[in-house]
Amino acid sequence: MKETNLKHIAIIMDGNGRWAQSRSHERIWGHIRGSKIVSNIVEEADDLGAKALTLYAFSTENWSRPVGEVKVLFKLLKKFLLKERNRILKNNIQFKVMGDITKLPEKTQSLIAELENDSKDNKGLKLTFAFGYGGRDEIVQAANKFIKENPGKELTEELLQSYLLMPHLGDVDLLIRTGGDQRISNFLLWQSAYAELYFTQTKWPDFTRKEFKEIFEFVSKRERRFGNVCSSDLQTSKMMAVENKELITNL
Ligand code: FPP
Repeated sequence: MKETNLKHIAIIMDGNGRWAQSRSHERIWGHIRGSKIVSNIVEEADDLGAKALTLYAFSTENWSRPVGEVKVLFKLLKKFLLKERNRILKNNIQFKVMGDITKLPEKTQSLIAELENDSKDNKGLKLTFAFGYGGRDEIVQAANKFIKENPGKELTEELLQSYLLMPHLGDVDLLIRTGGDQRISNFLLWQSAYAELYFTQTKWPDFTRKEFKEIFEFVSKRERRFGNVCSSDLQTSKMMAVENKELITNL
């Protein structure tokens, strides 16, 4: 297994509708084609050595889409669960859905619960579908839950983090958005505070393992400073602080 500093990857799978429309098809065609490539990307994430992959499959804002399109997305999720179940279990993947799934058909809800339960002890890639998910909603829910359980106690970053939907996934290291737009669209707002962002023009149905790997390798080489300066600058500034002690003291 490869060691990587990009442990948690999140993807906004955008551009399905435009992919279909540019081929004179209905938007749902794009979702159908888009759903077919999900398992390739999951496999590649695993091969690249990532520990977690979180995919934005349906946002809280997507509820305002035409009913027919919403139903197609529900069906595609169900199909994915039925088709990929064995592969997920065989590959030691831990599967979860984060978000409000109460409006999904009962059968789909039970398929989710079953797969979550059957894969819960798997130690491989943590695959999470964000479905009926919104980042602001997640933060508000976490804060409210904390206040209810800890009246009068002060909220800290660590405590809020522990009240999020999937605290064990930790921060996002790499956030990719396909489809050409450069937005985060209410996805993993808290967790992406220091994420490396990568926006590709490629629409989701055309996104390949090869491009995913190239992005991953490109971003792996970026220096992540988390608000600090780079290590060589740190060394230089230590030396300069000694040399300029008098200047700094008189500031
Ligand atoms: C955005 O494309 C995509 C979505 C709203 C849904 C993402 C869903 C899939 C990739 C398929 C579902 C797969 C599973 C397994 C649940 P868009 O419609 O906003 O595209 P546009 O920006 O071109 O309009």
